[in-house]
Amino acid sequence: MKKLLIALALFPTLAYAWPWSTDMMNQPSIKPQEGEMVPFPRRSIPVTGIPTTVSSREEAKSLVNPISPTPDSIAKGRVLFKIYCAACHGMTGKADAPIAGKIGAISLVDSYVQETLTEGWIFGTITFGSFVMPAYGKPMGRDDLRGSNDLSVEERWHVVNYVKHALLKDAQSDVTRTAATE
Ligand code: HEC
Repeated sequence: MKKLLIALALFPTLAYAWPWSTDMMNQPSIKPQEGEMVPFPRRSIPVTGIPTTVSSREEAKSLVNPISPTPDSIAKGRVLFKIYCAACHGMTGKADAPIAGKIGAISLVDSYVQETLTEGWIFGTITFGSFVMPAYGKPMGRDDLRGSNDLSVEERWHVVNYVKHALLKDAQSDVTRTAATE
């Protein structure tokens, strides 16, 4: 034992990666893929983009869409829709996703959404979610914190432009698999 200690003292590199040497591996920090992602701290603010100025869906109802429904905006909205909305509402919003009936995801091409709901309300729904639907802009605005802040303000308005100006047309022509780049 004494010889081992002397050897270690003279040649410290020998002590590297011995079975009992776990270096700094085992420590309380959260490692990749371990545990749940910690939500952003309350009151943290984005440093780029337009901030969300409303704090609830009701407040968003009368917001005026700052982004005009140009072909470019609609194209961006279409791509985001397929990523973020299609899983529940169907590829063209017809509530034909396999899960739609189970969770009650409504059709977004019916007159209720196309005519009755304001653009601000749809923006608010994407931002804060609805009852079953989670938030895609501000989960911190919900009591149950469900959702993500994946979509920036601009991106949410692009989705609104797509829903209000092109979704119905896509649904009628049954473009179920429009390429993401179109
Ligand atoms: C996880 C499933 C899910 C996803 C993803 C989802 N929704 Fe929903 N959505 C629902 C459900 C369920 C409802 C109906 C029940 C409710 O209001 O929560 C709904 C309702 C709505 C409504 C109607 C709100 C109202 O006032 O009646 C709109 C508009 C809407 N979704 C738009 C979207 C858009 C746009 C996206 C993509 C950014 C999206 N949804 C993504 C599940 C989802």
